[in-house]
Amino acid sequence: MTVHELDAFIDGLPKAELHMHLEGSIEPELMLDLARRNGMNLPWLTADELRAAYHFSNLQSFLDLFWTGCRVLVQEQDFYDLAMAYLRRARADNVLHAELFLAPQNFTLRGIAAGTVIRGVKRAFEDAAREPGISASLMIIAQRHHPEAAAFELLEQMMPWAHEIAAIGMGGPEVGHPPSKFTNFFRECRTRGFRVVIHAGEEGPASYVREALDLGADRIDHGNSCIDDPALVRTIAEQQTPLTLCPISNLRLKVIPTMEAQPLRKLMEQGVRVTINSDDPSYFTGYINDNFKACREAFALTKAELIGLARNSFTAAFLSEDNRQRYLGMIDSYAAGAQ
Ligand code: ADE
Ligand code: ZN
Repeated sequence: MTVHELDAFIDGLPKAELHMHLEGSIEPELMLDLARRNGMNLPWLTADELRAAYHFSNLQSFLDLFWTGCRVLVQEQDFYDLAMAYLRRARADNVLHAELFLAPQNFTLRGIAAGTVIRGVKRAFEDAAREPGISASLMIIAQRHHPEAAAFELLEQMMPWAHEIAAIGMGGPEVGHPPSKFTNFFRECRTRGFRVVIHAGEEGPASYVREALDLGADRIDHGNSCIDDPALVRTIAEQQTPLTLCPISNLRLKVIPTMEAQPLRKLMEQGVRVTINSDDPSYFTGYINDNFKACREAFALTKAELIGLARNSFTAAFLSEDNRQRYLGMIDSYAAGAQ
């Protein structure tokens, strides 16, 4: 296959997205529309002006803008519009299943009711399951720069929707806030039957990834820095704990100097179950297929390797066994038809 054929193959490849922050999918046009709807002034008057602000020196510089973007989300309909826009865009990339992050503290700590946020998102999930035909589930993130007590408060607020939450996670500024800061919180989440996912090893060291594993994380979000600890990589490979890599995000946040420095290929070679994801696609100007294509180019990924990565996205997903097999079968049929 030529590189053009491989990129076309990526476009049609059935896939799941497992690491995407709903707040980070807000496109500049929607941000400006919602600001107008909610009678707010933003420092940018046009989508182009806003796009021009999308230059980041590290995770914190991005989070500062990300939180400004969160301010325009106020009413239930705003959350519906946000989620629906992402789900339509993802379906165009042949994402058939998406497990999506939302950090309610971004809203509840300014007085927006948790129900306003969750109901808007859930309604979009229901409509998107019918049309455009994408299944979605919600992962709730506690922000790691807040105290553990605030995470416990969040957990209580989320209990009415407990049966609809795919996992509880941890996000936000990493360095100085290791996973072990939330040891009691994650123990309680697991006691209550929640799956746990933890952002670790994006900017933080390999020891943060090890802590996340020790806390029983079902998946590690990013996990890049595990590459600095060969014994840790072996453990992750043996346990088959999935890593949700976000290559374009890493480049935009200067976690890596070039795409070639992303540890994807090395991790694949060592048998780690890696997946490719977009993280905050609007701010990083790259949806999931852009991420696949950037990796295809940087690592000369073959058709078989691309299929393996798409398969990983479903084997790492929190799906029933029936649904998992159904999606894997769709990859097989697609691959057989695209010689
Ligand atoms: N929240 C949104 N994007 C994030 C990222 N890349 N790392 C940590 N927390 C986040
Ligand atoms: Zn993330």
